Amino acid sequence: MLTWDNYDDELAQHPTPAIAPVQPEKIVADAGQLHPGRSPSPTTSDALMPPSTQHKQAIGVEKSAEIVLEIPTMKEVPATSHEIRETATVAKLDTTLASSTDDHQRVTVDQKRMINCRADLNQLVPFKYDWAWQKYLDGCANHWMPQEINMTADIALWKSEDGLTQDERTVVKRSLGFFSTADSLVANNLVLAIYRLITNPECRQYLLRQAFEEAIHTHAYQYCIESLGMDEGEIFNMYHEVPVVANKASWALKYTQEISDPMFNTGTPEKDKALLRNLIAYYCVVEGIFFYCGFTQILSMGRLNKMTGTSEQFQYILRDESMHVNFGIDVINQIKLENPLLWDEEMQDLTRQMILEGTQLEIEYAKDTMPRGILGMNANMMAEYLQFIANRRLAQIGLLEQFPGVKNPFPWMSEIMDLKKEKNFFETRVTEYQTGGALSWD
Ligand SMILES: [Fe+2]
Ligand SMILES: [Fe+2]
Repeated sequence: MLTWDNYDDELAQHPTPAIAPVQPEKIVADAGQLHPGRSPSPTTSDALMPPSTQHKQAIGVEKSAEIVLEIPTMKEVPATSHEIRETATVAKLDTTLASSTDDHQRVTVDQKRMINCRADLNQLVPFKYDWAWQKYLDGCANHWMPQEINMTADIALWKSEDGLTQDERTVVKRSLGFFSTADSLVANNLVLAIYRLITNPECRQYLLRQAFEEAIHTHAYQYCIESLGMDEGEIFNMYHEVPVVANKASWALKYTQEISDPMFNTGTPEKDKALLRNLIAYYCVVEGIFFYCGFTQILSMGRLNKMTGTSEQFQYILRDESMHVNFGIDVINQIKLENPLLWDEEMQDLTRQMILEGTQLEIEYAKDTMPRGILGMNANMMAEYLQFIANRRLAQIGLLEQFPGVKNPFPWMSEIMDLKKEKNFFETRVTEYQTGGALSWD
């Protein structure tokens, strides 16, 4: 039997006949069954068919369930006004837009730069920043979708009268409320502000992957909200209506405003610093600090066998987010390296200030969502944890720690993030994607 696997062998036994001059012709064909070994005489209308059709005919087509196909010749089809117009347009095309011109050059690694690069951005290779390409590959290998996670236990627990305490319910609602819009803010900032201004194709490749992951995260939050039958209006409006959530969103939006203007461009120290501020705001503070109280609360719930489906969704998201933060920090450090004048005293002071403000906003969020001890933690422990995280963000971009001596009160969070198990944290599922994603022509 002919399959795509033995296709070439079959063709070798039944070579495609030479194409004779075109004549009008009728052929009779079966509605799809191929029978190798029966080779009808080649028809002269082969020239009008795509090669695959020619090959199928050469191999043989059973003459049952007859369908008569009228095959017109080229001569019988007058050019439509359509075709005349399109042909004229193609003939007039300005080919200098893409083809070689006098000032065309092949891109070299030395020409590539993170910002204000003039080399051709459509040429992915040669790579300059191998780490960015590697993160793109790692992100793809970690692909997951929210519907794969079983939410049955969460639905039963959420709907039961005494399954969760009032404080625990507040934590779940606030987390979904904050994240469901925060990831949209991050995605919009990526696509509408950062992407255009980062002038490096391998980093843009990762940014596209990150943007898709942010869409998956928003999908995951929506999936939880819908599964649990929450009031969607209440959850999605928390960033307008709940002050501790609104404060974090407002702080982030402040840094998007200037650079999302389509007329904004880098190229002066002042404008380059505006982009750098945005990258620090989003990667070090929004994704690097604002996400950590909610992540810790929900993961802690999962460890206590509560809301395990929601917690699993958050684990996948956390794995993605820790890679987003690492990528952003590499980009920031590379910009500093290539443009040392941008990283002056003023910029360092401002960065320190931004990280301290972010930490304070997240501590206020922790106090508001945990007025009492809950899930083996309280707001003071969370404050210490956030200071520990802030120290790390400062050190990652080359600044001194601002909270000397603070310890990590939640070492189990480090087990998830610090071990950097980006590839094999969820080994079985990742493997499924890596092997299950091959194309099948059947
Ligand atoms: Fe996200
Ligand atoms: Fe992210």
